[in-house]
Amino acid sequence: MNIPFEMQEAIEKLIEERSISKIRDCVSSVCERYNNESGRGKTLVKNEEEAVSYAISRMPGTFGAVKSTIKAFKEALEGHFGNDAGGETEIGFQSLADIGSGTGAAVWAAASEFDFEKITCFERESSMIEIGKHMLSYGEDVMKNAEWVQGDAVKGKDGGFKADLVTASYIMNELKQEDRNGFLKMLWDTAEKAIILIEPGTKAGFQNVLSAREFFVKNGASVVAPCTFSTECPLTKDDWCHFSCRMQRSRVQKFVKGGDAPYEDEKFSYIAVLKTCLGEEISGTDGMKRTNCIGNDARIIRHPITNKGCIELKLCSERGIEDVKVTSRDKAQFKAARKAEWGDGWWTT
Ligand SMILES: C[S@@+](CC[C@H](N)C(=O)[O-])C[C@H]1O[C@@H](n2cnc3c(N)ncnc32)[C@H](O)[C@@H]1O
Repeated sequence: MNIPFEMQEAIEKLIEERSISKIRDCVSSVCERYNNESGRGKTLVKNEEEAVSYAISRMPGTFGAVKSTIKAFKEALEGHFGNDAGGETEIGFQSLADIGSGTGAAVWAAASEFDFEKITCFERESSMIEIGKHMLSYGEDVMKNAEWVQGDAVKGKDGGFKADLVTASYIMNELKQEDRNGFLKMLWDTAEKAIILIEPGTKAGFQNVLSAREFFVKNGASVVAPCTFSTECPLTKDDWCHFSCRMQRSRVQKFVKGGDAPYEDEKFSYIAVLKTCLGEEISGTDGMKRTNCIGNDARIIRHPITNKGCIELKLCSERGIEDVKVTSRDKAQFKAARKAEWGDGWWTT
């Protein structure tokens, strides 16, 4: 996947005005801070120079992760509502609030999938806001006109605004454990219709996604993706649900991040929910009320393995985790399996 041309232009403008070697040094110090100091509620990007290095090194990957997530969300909604989902009819998303916007990667991704009329970016750090505004000034009018609200997302109250769709990417892992419920409450209170939370595709990132899933479902949400159901997650403790998207790397990205590979694989975990209760209400074994959800029958949670005349799929569905072999004898399913990728929905016929 490539980032939008205009986003690339905005990044190039940032580089034009600065020393690329200095940016490279900043990328490694910010990276080190992220590795060692996440999860403590600290400011990890400390000035404008570091915000620039964050934009150059991280925006393509986070754009890819959020866009992949939103595509899966839309596809699952379409499975339920028909092809008008996400459009103007059954369930439309006219406004977006992005919490912990940073330099605005999630806004670029969401605006490439939905036609919003209003966008609000909520962010704590002034340096991120400044570079985020620069980045969005290269986007469509709705992005140029985005309202930036400076504030703290862990106070357990909304930011004084609402939006149909609320996104939050790569922020929860930065917060102190004790602040995370307040943050989830803010997402919940801000969203009119749906919430999409994206975290790094690590065990820790997945644990955050799991606790968000539990919080949202307890409050009455229906899970839309990646799960095709809202009952308990069937993965065992030593496994984690994550996905990947391949992003092309520019010359500058190769320089600031090191290495010659023409691409990078961004690993991410996510949860997308609708605040409304869809489907039949059921009681989980823990007594929690949940809705029996929508869309795809199952999701492919590993790379499919192709053998001669047979494709092996690891599927997650309400039935649990299943290893399914699709053989060439079943022509329609085999044709679908040949096109299927890790992260796709899967309908068993
Ligand atoms: C890793 S960056 C992710 C930025 C952007 N969402 C993305 O995916 O590229 C996390 C962002 O969350 C912001 N942040 C962290 N804690 C916050 C808080 N308590 N309230 C508001 N923003 C916060 C940070 O300043 C930073 O810009």
